[in-house]
Order: sequence, then C-alpha cells, then structure tokens
Amino acid sequence: MKVKSLLLPLLLCLAGAVHADEPLYTVVDGYKVDANTMKGFRAWRAAACDRCHGANQEGLVGPSLIISMKTLSKQEFITVVTNGRLDKGMQSFGNSPIVMDNINQLYAYLKGRSDGAITRAKVEENK
Ligand code: HEC
Repeated sequence: MKVKSLLLPLLLCLAGAVHADEPLYTVVDGYKVDANTMKGFRAWRAAACDRCHGANQEGLVGPSLIISMKTLSKQEFITVVTNGRLDKGMQSFGNSPIVMDNINQLYAYLKGRSDGAITRAKVEENK
C-alpha cells in the first residue's frame, strides 16, 4: 500500500474534515455548492470579512483572498484567522464561534473562490 494514499486522508482527518475521502468542496454552475461550503459562505457573511477583504474577496483594506488563498496553506489560514495580525489590521476571530466552528468550511469556500471554481461570491446550496 502506498504511503501517500494513507497520508492525505489522515491529514484531512486531523484537519477536522467530516469525511476524509470527500473533496474540499463541490460546485455546480459556478455557484451551487454543497452544504459545508454553504456554511463557509454563511460564516464569511456573518463575520463580515468582506468589510476588509471586499464583497468578492478581491481585496479592499485587506489583501485579495483570491490571490492569497492560492499560496496560503490551510494551517497558515487557520493561524491567521484565529490569531489575526493585529499590528497589520487583520483582526482575530479566535473568540468568534461562528468563524471557529466553521473554519474548515470557510477554508473550503475561499479555496473554491480562489481556485476559480466558484465563480461568484454569493453562492446557493445545491439541493
Ligand atoms: C478589520 C479588517 C479585517 C477583517 C474584518 C478581516 N480581515 Fe483578514 N486581513 C486584514 C488585513 C489588513 C490583512 C493583511 C495583514 C498583513 O498585512 O499581513 C488580512 C489578512 C488576512 C489573511 C492572510 C492573507 C495573506 O496573504 O497572508 C487571511 C487568510 C484573512 N485575512 C482572512 C480573513 C477572514 C476569513 C476574515 C473573516 C473571518 C477576515 N480576514 C476579516 C483585514 C481584515
């Protein structure tokens, strides 16, 4: 058995993914997303990340997350959202349940936007 085939599911488990063998997000027609990714979008809205990163994640006073998420690792993402970079204007969300309870979903949503698979910021749940 290949080590790699074991490692990825393991890492996803550690990261708190619900089902290790499922893709990070699924999207149809560019905006109809799975329930988890929908939760990520709701967390994005509820936390008002758009105040600083723009309604379409393209950047405002904060950087474009479309660009940032291409290179940021998941761990880096979680660290910056949890702790913020207070000296640089990024607030910390470690005390925000809506964000911390949905951090994996938020990551999935923003990755989908950054990958270009989710083609508009406002998504709907694919039922
Ligand atoms: C008050 C403004 C503000 C809010 C609200 C805010 N951010 Fe930020 N964010 C920033 C700024 C400014 C930076 C850039 C910090 C720096 O220069 O390193 C940043 C950086 C980041 C980074 C790192 C980008 C990189 O390239 O390293 C991520 C990821 C991020 N924010 C995600 C979020 C998410 C997710 C939310 C909502 C839960 C959020 N931010 C809310 C201002 C904000």
